[in-house]
Amino acid sequence: MEGGRLVVAVDGPAGSGKSSVSREAALRLGMRYIDSGAIYRAITHYLLGRFGSLEKGKSYAEFLDGLKIDQRFEPDGSVRTSVNGLDVSRAIRDEAIARGIGAVSDDPSVRNFVNELLRSWSARESLIMDGRDIGTVVFPDATVKIYLDASVEVRSIRRVAEYREMGKTVDVNEIRNQIIRRDQEDTARPFGRLQKAEGSFYIDTSSMEKDEVIERMIGLIAKADGPRVRDGRPE
Ligand code: DC
Repeated sequence: MEGGRLVVAVDGPAGSGKSSVSREAALRLGMRYIDSGAIYRAITHYLLGRFGSLEKGKSYAEFLDGLKIDQRFEPDGSVRTSVNGLDVSRAIRDEAIARGIGAVSDDPSVRNFVNELLRSWSARESLIMDGRDIGTVVFPDATVKIYLDASVEVRSIRRVAEYREMGKTVDVNEIRNQIIRRDQEDTARPFGRLQKAEGSFYIDTSSMEKDEVIERMIGLIAKADGPRVRDGRPE
């Protein structure tokens, strides 16, 4: 990995396991992990706090002015996201955020704001970033692009387990419906929709153990000798 920064773009649908495997791969490789979904969640949290409910099709551009969002990747592998200095890492995992996020992540002005923020964070270090449009829009010249997938059933079960770990009881059917709805939203939005980036490695994790996925990712990253990236453009 000498000779420049590595940018690893990991995209895939909700519950495909992107964040847990990306985080672990980053820890093992000594890279920074960036959770782009957490940024959309943090903005949703902020706007919900301001307005109570959010409208699809509305532009939230004027409310992003001066908004300060930060994210830290801690040595223990946890990610801390803050809005205007307030740590929202736990609050953004609430189901209410998942319900309201479509109006925010469909807004092109929000997407531009987030994309600029993500690119500004990655100017200096090697990183693994996950999301929906990282390999297509944020870093089209990423060194390695990975598309992680899994069946709706498997993803629903994983999400329920995640909520349980946080001490929350949720209904599997409700989570399944939410995943189906988010797949529709994620693949249909006019800007930054979820799609397999050109040149990406496709991994179906439905019947894979977490560690197997991590090993596969690390193998792909270790072999990579594609273009190094500066500010979203090849050096
Ligand atoms: O990865 P996640 O489930 O925490 O992401 C939350 C939402 O944010 C997801 O429904 C779609 C949106 N998102 C996006 O539009 N673009 C990204 N790069 C990451 C997330």
